[in-house]
Amino acid sequence: MEWWEFLVTVAAAVAGILAVSGGARRVQEWVYEWGLGEKRKKLPPGDFGWPLLGNMVAFLRAFKSNDPDSFINSYIQRFKRVGIYKACMFGTPTIMVTTPENCKQVLMDDEHFVPGWPKATCELVGKRSFLFIINEEHKRLRKLTSAPINGYEALTTYLGFIEETVVSTLEKWAGMGEIEFLTELRRMTFKIIMKIFLSSESDSVARSLEKVYTDLNYGMRAMAINFPGFAFHRALKARKKLVAVLQAVLDERAARAKNPHPANKDMMDRLMEAEDEKGSRLSNEEIIDIMIMYLNAGHESSGHITMWVTVLLQEHPEIFQKAKAEQEEIRRSLPPMQKRLTLKEFRKMEYLSKVIDETLRMVNISFVAFRQATDDVYVNGYLIPKGWKVQTWYRTVHMDPEVYPDPKNFNPSRWDGITPKPGTFLPFGGGSRLCPGNELAKLEISVFLHHFLLGYQLKRRNPKCPIRYLPHPRPMDNCLAKITKISAT
Ligand code: HEM
Repeated sequence: MEWWEFLVTVAAAVAGILAVSGGARRVQEWVYEWGLGEKRKKLPPGDFGWPLLGNMVAFLRAFKSNDPDSFINSYIQRFKRVGIYKACMFGTPTIMVTTPENCKQVLMDDEHFVPGWPKATCELVGKRSFLFIINEEHKRLRKLTSAPINGYEALTTYLGFIEETVVSTLEKWAGMGEIEFLTELRRMTFKIIMKIFLSSESDSVARSLEKVYTDLNYGMRAMAINFPGFAFHRALKARKKLVAVLQAVLDERAARAKNPHPANKDMMDRLMEAEDEKGSRLSNEEIIDIMIMYLNAGHESSGHITMWVTVLLQEHPEIFQKAKAEQEEIRRSLPPMQKRLTLKEFRKMEYLSKVIDETLRMVNISFVAFRQATDDVYVNGYLIPKGWKVQTWYRTVHMDPEVYPDPKNFNPSRWDGITPKPGTFLPFGGGSRLCPGNELAKLEISVFLHHFLLGYQLKRRNPKCPIRYLPHPRPMDNCLAKITKISAT
């Protein structure tokens, strides 16, 4: 039994009890609001759902259906588009913010908001990852890790490897018959992130890590129910395996530290050598949690977005042709001796960049981010009480017809001549937690599409396959498809 099925069963039981006890919802409200005294009148509109379950049943029902937006839309219908609502999510009282202005205020205010991820995510990614650290320590570790991923020099270095990987992977798929396109793409993006973080490790280490990440991910947005059969239970086991593999790598590297270091340092070397101003180094536990976080964040989203953008291009032949024409022009204008792409060509992919942005907007891989208020804060005139969780709903911003007219229409040209207003385009979050891999992700996706558009096509077995929205939107068949080579790139 999956955890959500268990929840629905419990919900049914609770509903029965409520039929007898009547005002239990009021009790729930009273429990959360009682301590606030008069201030409770300043809370935003909303409701706390059922005792124990809060609003999770409504949330899961929406995200298991083909209309995930119906969850927040029900608040907008009942309480108008105030852009801030109270609810009970993942077992705690929560304020959900859903408009650009409100999301921006939360994301930019580090003094009053710290990360507040659900218990399952925290336990799986690790208490020493970025999900827990704040202020100076967060800044220090971001500085240490972001330039070697996203900086100009770093991207120039990685581009060759990314392109080699893309070219050989597409060749391989074209000879494989039907594949799970998403699964294969996740393998490909994992290979790339492994190169950056653990370049000198063997293929067998890469394979053993990649396999367990699928289980880890499915537990990430689940309720933290550690019982056999539940996604979180499987994910905890996956985390144990990841810790063991990374610990073995650390031990092995520490043993050879007496010998000179390899000339090309990867991220694990950098983390092992990093010292703060007092000269103290990161513990093994810290390095492992940071690695688990980066290896996961660094391949899952890029793999999913690459799949969606390819699928959307195939489904829209005119957009496909326009994107292809741009890549043909880029190929034609390469100097005669230049065989491979450089960042200069990447910067010329203007239309492709709009196609990717439009995909990021519509697909909403990270549909929400999680914070916690460190003090009483007012947003749009409503109170967010100290200690309450806060969710910034990126998905709702991107699917809001007042922000993006006709939001369900895949229309890359909507980006013509537009620089999004602050808070309106948040696929990579914002503020001090802005995704440190955003440039790398766009580079990987663009290089893939360059070669795909010029030489391949995708034929899905089930083009109308239903979509699963948790933990990330994906077709339930993982996009079963055939990749066919149509010309040499
Ligand atoms: C299309 C691909 C990607 C998408 C859509 C994406 C999305 C996001 C979003 C929305 C956040 C912010 C979460 C928040 O507000 O708390 C984030 C954070 C993060 N991302 Fe990405 N990401 C992508 C690729 C990557 C890559 C390639 C890497 C690493 C190489 C990466 C590493 C991270 C890390 C470490 C954080 C946490 C940052 C912090 O808390 O300071 N992501 N990502």
